[in-house]
Amino acid sequence: MPHVSSGPAAPRSRRASGPGGSGGSRLSLPKPLTSFIGREHELAQAKQLLQGSYLVTLTGPGGSGKTRPCIAVATEVAAEYPDGVYFVPLAPVRDPQLVPSTIAQAIGLQDPRDRPLMEHLVSQLRERQLLIVLDNFEHLLAGAPVVTQLLQETSALRILVSSRSSLRVSGEQECPVPPLAVPDPDARPTAASLAACESVRLFAERAAAAVPGFTISDENAPAIARIARRLDGLPLAIELAAARVKLLPPEAILPRLEHSLGLLTGGSRDLPDRLQTLRATIAWSYDLLTEGARRLLAACSVFAGGASLEAIEAVCDAAVDIGLPVLDGLQELADQSLLRQVPGPGSSPVRYAMLETIREYAAERLDEMPEADRARGAHAATFLALVEAGGRQHAGLAKKAWLERLETEHNNIRAALSWYREHDPPAALRLAASLPAFWSLRGHHTEGRQRLGELLGLVPDESTARVSALNGAGWLAIDQGGYAEAARMLGEGIRIGRALSDTTRITWAGSSPWLPPAGRPTRCWTATAPNGARWRTRYSSSPTPWSTTGA
Ligand SMILES: Nc1ncnc2c1ncn2[C@@H]1O[C@H](COP(=O)(O)OP(=O)(O)OP(=O)(O)O)[C@@H](O)[C@H]1O
Ligand SMILES: [Mg+2]
Repeated sequence: MPHVSSGPAAPRSRRASGPGGSGGSRLSLPKPLTSFIGREHELAQAKQLLQGSYLVTLTGPGGSGKTRPCIAVATEVAAEYPDGVYFVPLAPVRDPQLVPSTIAQAIGLQDPRDRPLMEHLVSQLRERQLLIVLDNFEHLLAGAPVVTQLLQETSALRILVSSRSSLRVSGEQECPVPPLAVPDPDARPTAASLAACESVRLFAERAAAAVPGFTISDENAPAIARIARRLDGLPLAIELAAARVKLLPPEAILPRLEHSLGLLTGGSRDLPDRLQTLRATIAWSYDLLTEGARRLLAACSVFAGGASLEAIEAVCDAAVDIGLPVLDGLQELADQSLLRQVPGPGSSPVRYAMLETIREYAAERLDEMPEADRARGAHAATFLALVEAGGRQHAGLAKKAWLERLETEHNNIRAALSWYREHDPPAALRLAASLPAFWSLRGHHTEGRQRLGELLGLVPDESTARVSALNGAGWLAIDQGGYAEAARMLGEGIRIGRALSDTTRITWAGSSPWLPPAGRPTRCWTATAPNGARWRTRYSSSPTPWSTTGA
């Protein structure tokens, strides 16, 4: 068994089938839409560490540029991993227990029927030459043992992590990511002397994206050099400052920025300097927005893993009046690099997403607004409505596009479930009761069973939602071979459904596609009269019938 710390040899080159099933190398990395600047030294160092270690963590404060080098490194070394390179975005995942299922999902593995997910994951990855990129691990450190277990029980898997702090597990190689190089304060800044400086290049490239034709000149070079130094070479801060070039030249940005940062960093001496600089730059950028765009940014923090235009509009309509068309506000936020458009999956429309550091700031601003709870409630209601409407339209058909849509919104749905669990448990049960088809067909059995089990315990009322939830829990249990549990769930569902004269759900419970295989409590059929008045469900070859019902 390999050990994380044993200093492995470089991965051999060989072709094999990836965990998703089909053969060949696969590269599943986000495609950055902006240029990548510099970092030659850090990339070389990270690549070298990956040669000698199974676990490499790029660390640095929020917005210091960890995700970008991770993607760059993974792209460059992809050829050494014939079984694929997979990117696992963890920023929107709130629960450390979801680390294994999020990894499994990213690499195309489903929850197995007959054994715990970790066991399945390990068995599928045991011999694979695979690189997994775990992005934004800092808030899931309680899930770090999963990483250790995966590495200890596989022979060629390597993991590259981005995290604000190291995972502190045995064998981890930490690779701190410093800020981008800044201009020498003692050298006279000219266009030529700044051309090679990373932070200045980033400023110039992002400014040119905002104002086509923007270049560094001997005139603006001193101001740009000071901006880059004042922002400590922090890439996110530099991008935010460069976005302002649309309105003001660098010479005019500099005094305003220096003034604001002086004020904004004055108060919180307990934060490390670079963190203060970054926060103050985000605050500066936020303060310069129109009131409506500020409110919109705060409202957008309710989303986990990005959002569609429709969903943002729904939350604004219900809870946060921004006083301008949502699309205009989104445009303003995108212009200021506070929000970005990201392609939706497949042919779906674009989505809007925020970097995690900005989302955290926006969430703090939302907390200060009286509408904060309403906005989070509206977010939950939006996804409850989406899931319930889709459930009706696609009942039983489980259309592929619909399942894709739910997968895209999975983190938003999880956030809605968590919100309702705290604030309106019956609504949480309704939402969960609409998800078993998705959980089953997309391989989220463990999560679905946990959610349903918890909510069924929390909401004991005998309602149609409970019958649906029991049916769903039974279905998920059967999928995983949990027949005794299924018998209990479906039996209770049939009993309550009968008391409620809910023939539809009872019929479902007794219908055949999800019945256990032979030898277990098996076949049944249901007869439902057209008026629903009479129904009958029977079981045969059932050594321990889960239920014998009939009317
Ligand atoms: N070397 C680089 N070249 C170009 N852009 C960069 C570079 N490094 C970072 N950026 C940009 O700066 C912003 C912040 O970078 P990134 O998302 O990598 O930071 P991070 O440290 O991962 O942040 P967080 O801690 O919030 O996850 C992004 O918009 C990214 O594209
Ligand atoms: Mg990141």
